[in-house]
Amino acid sequence: MSFGKFTAVDGVDLVVNQGDLRFLVGPNGAGKTTLIDAVTGLVPARGSIDHDGHQLVGRRTHRITRLGVGRTFQTASVFEELTVLQNLDIAAEAGRSPLSLLASRRSVSREVEETLELVGLSALRDAPAGVLAHGQKQWLEIGMLLVQKAQVLLLDEPVTVMADGRVISEGSVAHVQADPRVQEIYLGTAATSATTAAGPRGGTP
Ligand SMILES: Nc1ncnc2c1ncn2[C@@H]1O[C@H](COP(=O)(O)OP(=O)(O)O)[C@@H](O)[C@H]1O
Ligand SMILES: [Mg+2]
Repeated sequence: MSFGKFTAVDGVDLVVNQGDLRFLVGPNGAGKTTLIDAVTGLVPARGSIDHDGHQLVGRRTHRITRLGVGRTFQTASVFEELTVLQNLDIAAEAGRSPLSLLASRRSVSREVEETLELVGLSALRDAPAGVLAHGQKQWLEIGMLLVQKAQVLLLDEPVTVMADGRVISEGSVAHVQADPRVQEIYLGTAATSATTAAGPRGGTP
């Protein structure tokens, strides 16, 4: 995948099998997001991306979604003015024909109900998605993929830092790296601004 003369993703060869949990780690600019964009048709890639016998290169994004390949975004993309429940409802209905929609209205609701529980957002079901914390928006995005029955879930930068059995920090990589508690855990002391400017020592999750 190239932007003009600049090659952002170069000869990547990966196999992900059903049931695999795969992490792509690397510093800012490594090409992680571009790889996800290429798989989901947001940028035009060369080469071959095979999902379950279907060639994804050259397909439009919504077709790729229909084939069961879903993704989240580095900046969570949910309908901010709609409630959590409405976001899930829309996602659940997006993958259905009008006929099956009529026939399965009730089972869709049950499925949405279970997904709310699974992603930990039951108590916030009627809240506008815009008020959710970053990590909660990412869970909502994951819920939206689940009700769409995505077979492949590409998650761009889900970050939660744990230490001593507790969740210490949650959010974007930039947020987590800037968190003094995280810096304390990794470096023994909160980073000075000079250290931060030089980049993280431990690498980017
Ligand atoms: N739209 C774009 N136009 C030009 N270069 C881009 C564009 N998007 C990303 N890049 C470049 O591609 C490289 C990979 O970026 P990205 O995939 O966002 O990395 P990561 O997600 O690993 O931080 C970076 O050098 C970035 O500057
Ligand atoms: Mg990225």
